[in-house]
This record gives sequence, structure tokens and C-alpha cells, in this order.
Amino acid sequence: MEALDINALTVSITFFLVIISFAALYYLRRKRCETAKLPPGSFGWPIIGETFAVFAANRNGTPNSFIEERTQRYDNRIFKTSLLGDPVAIFCGATGNKFLFSNENKLVTSWWPRSLQKLLRACILTSVGDEAKRLRRLLMTSLNTEALQRYVGTMDSVTQLHMHKEWDGKERVEIYPLAKKYTFELACRLFVSVQDREQMSKLSRHFNIMLDGVVAIPLNIPGTRYYLAARSAGAIREELRLIIEGRRRLVDKAVTQDILSYLLMATDENGRFMTEEEIVNNILVLLFAGQNTSSCALTMLMKYLAEFPDVYDKVLKEQRGIAMSKGPGELLNWEDIQKMQYSWNVMAEVMRLAPPIIGTFREAITDFTYEGFTIPKKWKLYWSASVTHMNPDYFLDPEKFNPSRFDGDGSNPCTFVPFGGGPRICPGKEFARLQILVFLHNVVKRFKWELEFPDEKIKIDPIPVPTKGLPARLQPHKF
Ligand code: HEM
Repeated sequence: MEALDINALTVSITFFLVIISFAALYYLRRKRCETAKLPPGSFGWPIIGETFAVFAANRNGTPNSFIEERTQRYDNRIFKTSLLGDPVAIFCGATGNKFLFSNENKLVTSWWPRSLQKLLRACILTSVGDEAKRLRRLLMTSLNTEALQRYVGTMDSVTQLHMHKEWDGKERVEIYPLAKKYTFELACRLFVSVQDREQMSKLSRHFNIMLDGVVAIPLNIPGTRYYLAARSAGAIREELRLIIEGRRRLVDKAVTQDILSYLLMATDENGRFMTEEEIVNNILVLLFAGQNTSSCALTMLMKYLAEFPDVYDKVLKEQRGIAMSKGPGELLNWEDIQKMQYSWNVMAEVMRLAPPIIGTFREAITDFTYEGFTIPKKWKLYWSASVTHMNPDYFLDPEKFNPSRFDGDGSNPCTFVPFGGGPRICPGKEFARLQILVFLHNVVKRFKWELEFPDEKIKIDPIPVPTKGLPARLQPHKF
């Protein structure tokens, strides 16, 4: 009985001390903020800040409203808020983007939620400073032009097979789930040469569970989303390890043209190869960063093409021209991709209006001043692609879908930023371009389509997702 009382007392004291420490920290942070000239804005409620206002805007499919309302109320260059317990400065417009992109490793560094960092472990996305640079150099050996040129034919044959199995002969399809399936199949083949259906669906199951825990409280307690996600990330790692071991046993490690074969041969400036763990973690992050972004881009592309038949006709004309220049059974090659200029302008305009990643965070690594305001160390900083893309100073009639605005030299620096910018710019940018254009070639060559729900709502979760999966009726071409 006495032991129980002592235990209860210890727990109460510990609890009390924890609460006091949190309150003291909170108070000190507020005090520090009061003495500096911080950006205008409101921290909202204690701890939760303005988190719910952001969630509500995303759920309604109007992610920009949170920022636009506050830039009108406070300042159109920068304002402060508080999200998920952290003070955040929102940097606005091309000037804000440029400042964050060009000060990587000097004043700021990239930042992702703790749950994501723990799931992905040490990799290009979670590393900072010199380590991030080293990993980027190594990874780019598998994503540079020379490597990409070798992937085009494989991409085309995987896409044809996918079309044959999932689209041909169907009257109705749900575009979003199919786009996800397609990008996953392609990643399995091009990242690690997995083609076995069962192995792919096992990996895909684990991958989806992992995605559910990417933004969650990172407590490893059985039954929680994070716990399940960590287990699935472990299962994918194990599968990747087996694949690597198998590949290492081959005499010619480059026998298969995939990302893994490049990573096994890549060496850093000291001639050091990547460790197995580095390869596993970085393939996992490529899968994570490349899957939903590309499938979202493809889905939104198909949505806009259904809504704008004149644009569809021009894309079809360009793609038919390329198809007609090929011999029977001949696969697409790098030169064909370079001819898809109009098609890529259409994709750019889709990503302007519906960027797959609406913005990302940085963290201040030191106190600094921006536009006369103090930004304290450790603050989270946010840049927004979706708000920048709708600024009438950069894009005339920003609401209007107009692919021809990308004719010519393109937009001004830091105004069109679907892939981010600076040293953290998306390393999979060109891979994504290839995969999107190869898919587009194959789908428009076969079909025209009509959306089942022309006004289907798009919510942000955290990428733009059609709430009903974007079902469509397919009309195969007669010739
Ligand atoms: C349309 C498709 C895609 C879009 C719109 C996109 C967009 C982005 C954006 C906005 C960032 C963050 C940049 C920043 O914070 O400044 C990013 C990072 C990243 N992306 Fe992509 N991405 C796409 C496809 C891909 C693909 C296919 C891959 C892999 C093959 C990939 C791999 C990565 C990685 C590893 C990072 C983290 C880089 C770092 O932190 O240094 N992405 N992407």
C-alpha cells in the first residue's frame, strides 16, 4: 500500500515538473518574441496556434485562403503564425522564395515533421549541410541526363503493359487510384527491377501503411498509426536489403538498367561507395517523394485535359506526330521526349494551378533579419508554391488555364516553383518529366475521356486529391 502511495507521489511530481517546464519554455519563448521586432501576425491559441485554420482550408480545397487572408491583413511580404506548437514565419512571393532557396545552409535548412524524419532515417531528405550535398551528388548519378536517357525505353514498355492491363477495353476507370498504381509499378521496375506482381503488391501495401504515419505523433506504441508505419517501413527496408544482396552476388552489377545499379557503383569524392543502409534509405525516400507527387500530377493533368478539349486536341496532335514517326513496335526514345514541348507546357500549367506539393518548410539555423523583421533561430519558415503561382504580378489572369503562357523562355525566377528551388530543388524533377510525358503519350494515343463528376472536389491531403478518385468514361480512338 505504502509502495503504491510513493509511486503515485513520484508520478504526480514528475507530471507537475513536466507541466512547469513546458509552461516555462512557452513563457520564455513568448517573452523573447515580445522583445524582438517580429513579423506581424498572430500566434493564435496556445500550443495549437492556427493549426486548425490551415487544416480547414486544406480540407475545403482552398489552401491559399489561409495565407491570402493574412497577407491582406498584415503584410504581403511575411507574417507570423504558429502551427503544431511551433512559431512559423510565412515567406511570401518570389522574393520570399528566393531568400529561402538561396540561404540554404547559411541561414536556413530544410525541415520535415519529426515522424517523417524518424521513418525515413538518414537520407537525402532528412540530411542537412555537407551530408545532404554528398548524398545528392551520389543520388544524381542515377537521375542525371545520361541515366535518364537509358530509362526511356523501359518506361515506355512498362507504360504500355500497364495500359494494356488496366485501361484497354474498359469503359470506366478511376484515374487517381490507377495513376498511383502506375507510378508505383514504374518505380518498382526502374528503381530496383521488381516485376513480380506479388512482390509489387506486398511493397505497395507496406508503402501505403507507411504513408499514413508520415505526419503523426512519433510514439512507437502498438496500434498507433506511427507504430504501423514504422513496421511497414521496416518491411520495405528488409525487402530492399534482400534485393541488394541478390544484386551484389551478380558479377556484372550494372546488368540491369535501374537506379539501384547506379547507386551500387556511385562513389563520393573520397572514392567511397554507398553503404547498404545508405542505399536502402535513399531508395525508400525516392519512393516516398516520387510516388504521390507524380500520380497527383498525372491525375490533375487528365482532369484539365478532360475540361479543355481544345488543349487535348493539340496534345493529341503533337503525340500522334511522334507516334507516326516510329516504326511498328519501336519504343519511345530521348529525342521523342524532347519533341513533346507543347505537352510539357500543358503539364507546367497544370502544376501552376495545382502544384502537387503546395509548399515546404525550412528552419532558421540562426537569428536573422528579413525585410526589417527578426526571425529567431529554430523558427519554422514556410514558402508556398500554390500562393506564388496565383499572384497576378507574375501570371496574367492567374485563374485562367492557359498553357501557352509557358511558350518561349518561361517564367521569371522563383515565380514558378512546383519543384522548389536552390540546393534543395527536387532531384527527381527530370525523372518526373519523363514519366509524365511517356504516360501522356500512351494515354492520349489510345483514348479521349469524360469526367463522371465534372465538379469533383479536390482536397489537400497534403497533396491535391480528388475526393471521389476522379472516375472517367473512356472513349477509345477509332484508329
Ligand atoms: C511531379 C512530380 C514531382 C514534384 C511536383 C516534386 C516536387 C518536389 C518539391 C517541391 C520538393 C521540395 C523542394 C524544396 O523543399 O525546396 C521535392 C523534393 C524531393 N523530391 Fe520531388 N517532386 C516530384 C517528383 C519526384 C520524383 C519522381 C522523385 C524521385 C525519383 C523525387 C524526389 C525528391 C526528393 C528525394 C526530394 C528531397 C530533396 C531534398 O530534400 O534535398 N521527386 N520534390
